[in-house]
Amino acid sequence: MFAKPDLHVAPVTPELAEPVRALRVAPEQEPFVGDTTFNLDDALRDANSEAMAILVGATAAGFYRLDFKPTIVARRSIGDAAVGLRAFFIDVDWQGRGLGTRAVQACCDDIRARHPDRRLLALNVNCRNVAAINAYRKAGFVDTGELYLGGSAGPQHLMVRKL
Ligand SMILES: CC(C)(COP(=O)(O)OP(=O)(O)OC[C@H]1O[C@@H](n2cnc3c(N)ncnc32)[C@H](O)[C@@H]1OP(=O)(O)O)[C@@H](O)C(=O)NCCC(=O)NCCS
Repeated sequence: MFAKPDLHVAPVTPELAEPVRALRVAPEQEPFVGDTTFNLDDALRDANSEAMAILVGATAAGFYRLDFKPTIVARRSIGDAAVGLRAFFIDVDWQGRGLGTRAVQACCDDIRARHPDRRLLALNVNCRNVAAINAYRKAGFVDTGELYLGGSAGPQHLMVRKL
């Protein structure tokens, strides 16, 4: 039996920026996450966001951004104790090995450690993105039943996970 690879999450440093920019999803997944360079640069310059790398050992294997004023996620305030999870992905070469599930857990542990006032993690996921909906359910998210109909790639569920 092989040991699970070490997985952790960390803010994107200048040294991590290039490896994160090089990460890719499959072409059919691109509408669900948007452009990584845009998301990285936008999160780095936004005082209410954090750009986060998902690391296997020292190797970048995924990315997400945290939104501490998550009105974009719910399109309304969902309370000061909420954090938005956006643009979450695992590089296509690393998908299907359980890293997505573990990365959500590591993300929650990291928020609890660095932002103990936060109580809820919230995200939008496209209704057609069955793989991600399954992955988020497995990682402890529940569907609120609320739909956002204005997404550029179609309707999106609002899912939440307690921190
Ligand atoms: C969604 C994503 C993060 C999952 O990461 P992952 O490392 O591949 O997922 P895991 O290996 O941890 O799998 C977790 C669960 O997800 C589901 N899942 C993963 N890939 C799937 C697929 N192709 N079809 C259906 N379900 C799938 C399964 O329920 C799986 O659990 P199981 O292995 O017990 O069946 C990854 O597929 C991804 O980056 N997708 C592209 C970007 C994206 O859509 N991001 C979400 C934006 S909201």
